[in-house]
Amino acid sequence: MTELTVAQPTAANSGASATARFQQKTRVDALTTTERVDTLVSELITAAHDIVVRHHLTYPEYDALKAWLVQVGADGEWPLFLDVFLEHVVEQVANADRQGSKGTIEGPYYVPGAPALPAQTTLPMRENEPGTPLRFTGRVRTVDGEPIASATIDIWHADDAGYYSQFAPGIPEWNLRGSVHVDDEGRFDITTIEPAPYQIPTDGATGKLLAAAGWPAWRPAHFHVKVSAPGYRLITSQLYFDGGEHLGSDIASAVKPELILHPKPAADGKGHHVSYDFVLDAD
Ligand code: DHB
Ligand code: FE
Repeated sequence: MTELTVAQPTAANSGASATARFQQKTRVDALTTTERVDTLVSELITAAHDIVVRHHLTYPEYDALKAWLVQVGADGEWPLFLDVFLEHVVEQVANADRQGSKGTIEGPYYVPGAPALPAQTTLPMRENEPGTPLRFTGRVRTVDGEPIASATIDIWHADDAGYYSQFAPGIPEWNLRGSVHVDDEGRFDITTIEPAPYQIPTDGATGKLLAAAGWPAWRPAHFHVKVSAPGYRLITSQLYFDGGEHLGSDIASAVKPELILHPKPAADGKGHHVSYDFVLDAD
């Protein structure tokens, strides 16, 4: 007889996976000049000094801060923490000049190399994947409204329990992840299930901080997407669901009104149908 042990997702395992993934990325060479490092780090340190003075930071509080910073690293949670509290402003600055679709944060759970899928497709999922079926259709086009037939939509999202494959244990590698190539008219027609809201792991340093500060630990349910095509600027974004919980209190501050989808009952009676068109800026 086989005994089945289902591992529970913990801050330590999702944090460690997110840290390992981040370390595989190659974009950490952006800060090139001494002058820029000097400027950015000086201002960061000065801002910290100002907080110490204005709030009369005590030695016990200083020690608590040090212990917490050490623990964020030990839990592998720096990618999670930074993507929740800082990335949305980085994204705002990076995408301020776009005319096409709104972007928002990437978050810590993107994995390149998802299975290539045709325009009309079902995302990889388990047999009897829990959750409400969702059909997601739309087009990719230029700011002038022309279809972009060479576009790819990389999509990844949490399951019906709020967990991501490759970061929570026991989920097949590419579950609810795919790289969808649109058809000749820039159209896509993706069948998946509705993701659940995502809760920041409560047992790690980030979760402890949220509890200590009395802040909510939730993100509203969302799809993640990266939409790209040769000659166009890649857009990284997320899509949310009208009426969903936590839309007004996203701990990652990543919701924008333009990114909220309006699901309707599906024509075939199975779950919901949503449509959204992506508009790419030229390079
Ligand atoms: C985090 C998780 C997400 O799914 C997301 O979209 C953004 C941030 C996080 O845990 O930091
Ligand atoms: Fe997410």
